[in-house]
Amino acid sequence: MVLSTGINRIRTAVFISGTGSNLKSLIKFSKSNKSPISIELIVSNNAKAKGLNYAKIYKIKKKVLNFKNKNLSENKFISYLKINNIEMICLAGFMEILSKNFIKKFKGKILNIHPSLLPRYKGLNTHERALKNKEKYSGCTVHFVNSKLDSGKIILQKKVKISKNETKNSLAKKILIQEHKLYQKAIIKVFNL
Ligand code: GRF
Repeated sequence: MVLSTGINRIRTAVFISGTGSNLKSLIKFSKSNKSPISIELIVSNNAKAKGLNYAKIYKIKKKVLNFKNKNLSENKFISYLKINNIEMICLAGFMEILSKNFIKKFKGKILNIHPSLLPRYKGLNTHERALKNKEKYSGCTVHFVNSKLDSGKIILQKKVKISKNETKNSLAKKILIQEHKLYQKAIIKVFNL
């Protein structure tokens, strides 16, 4: 696919595990004139991930992989991505940890969105922990993926105020809305458009 500016769009795979609301928002973004990416592949570690439905809706190739299967040949998967000319990977609610070897093969080309203001609250249950610590703010972060969990270079963050009667669900909802906006801004920033 070619951008209106004549530049080729970056062939991107989105990795998911669940609902895929970030995936949906990225797909919509990828169809806009300002997008430097085109989404060519959806990868899931979970065959039941709701987000896989977007493959059918938007006619995007999908691949389900059991990342826990020790027999899975990672090199075969890497070859599959290369054969499909995948140049960039966006993790969006993807609940597996990628191997060092995999990350090395796509060095500087894997982005992740995390629902906290990193470096605070790496890992799981970010909203519960932020509320438990009586934080005034939380938010979301888009960062490059390196071999340490949620520790790669930060691209963009968005702060969200925690209200008085905030619950983990209300906070998750508020932050998710911002995640959708932040991911596309971060992609634009990465490509300096
Ligand atoms: C998002 O909050 C993401 O940051 C986190 O898991 C959630 C996934 O949501 N890692 P969705 O699947 O994109 O709707």
